[in-house]
Amino acid sequence: MKRRYFIRNASLGGLGIATASPFMDYLNLSKMSNFLPVCIATWNFPNASLMAGKMLEAGALALDAVEQGVMVEEADIRNTTVGRGGAPDREGNVTLDACIMNPQGDAGAVVYLKNNTHAVSVARKVMEETPHVILAGEGADQFAQEQGFEKEDLLTQASEKAYKEWLKTKEYKPIINIENHDTIGMLCIDHKGDIAGACTSSGLSYKMNGRVGDSPIVGAGLFLDNEVGGAVATGMGEAILKSVGSFLIVELMRQGISPQEACETAILRIIKQNPNYKDFQAAFIAINKKGEVGSYCIQKGFSYMEYRAGENKNVASKFYF
Ligand code: GLY
Repeated sequence: MKRRYFIRNASLGGLGIATASPFMDYLNLSKMSNFLPVCIATWNFPNASLMAGKMLEAGALALDAVEQGVMVEEADIRNTTVGRGGAPDREGNVTLDACIMNPQGDAGAVVYLKNNTHAVSVARKVMEETPHVILAGEGADQFAQEQGFEKEDLLTQASEKAYKEWLKTKEYKPIINIENHDTIGMLCIDHKGDIAGACTSSGLSYKMNGRVGDSPIVGAGLFLDNEVGGAVATGMGEAILKSVGSFLIVELMRQGISPQEACETAILRIIKQNPNYKDFQAAFIAINKKGEVGSYCIQKGFSYMEYRAGENKNVASKFYF
């Protein structure tokens, strides 16, 4: 690859074309890393990965691509586990959790955000405009408004109707699978070879007031290191929090373990820690800096999106049972 890169530069130089421009960097890096750019995201949300993939192909940075990509799902009111239209807690409040990480390893997060659809964008502002990593509750809402986000009502007619129906039995059965999609987590590697990630969720349907899941917690719901790769989680937040699974996966990949094997190790650890593992879903997806992807989950039914070289495909994950 390297040799071809020099030959290409030499021949373009011979034609009198400058080779030291950002555009040439893009061409050269794309040639050197033929898997770039790439986007992976949890579940079957093709519009989100398409948005991010197209942006990356147009030269966008990974950080912008992950933000805009997951925003597609935050805005989609048909998705009842992310953003506006997300199912409320037991008291009828829709509360959002999200985090974002850039290639420098900076992170921003919001928990229990009540008045804004785009929790990921508020999380990005926390990362870029404050000395903090996480803002919670009222403080997060206040900060969002100070940053110019308009107050919104996150409870839609449909989610209110479903909530009223739920109130009749108040049965709490947090099964997360194909029929009840959970968090969107996304990882992108851009044309420069830099990785960024985002994770956003309204959390478990009919959770206790104040409950926060794994999605906004760096290391649990999302972790990346630009030297190694990244991982994101979806599923039962309590189990993922206890395993700090995304951090574990990145550290395993740092030791040379493949993304697939690293995801399997993290899920096996959750299974070992939770005797009731058959009652819930947990899943990880991961990508290393060579562009290799892995995914593993507890039970059948989880899939992920992969956008690469103009193809936006849904891939069924390997599973434990
Ligand atoms: N994985 C999302 C949550 O448990 O809140």
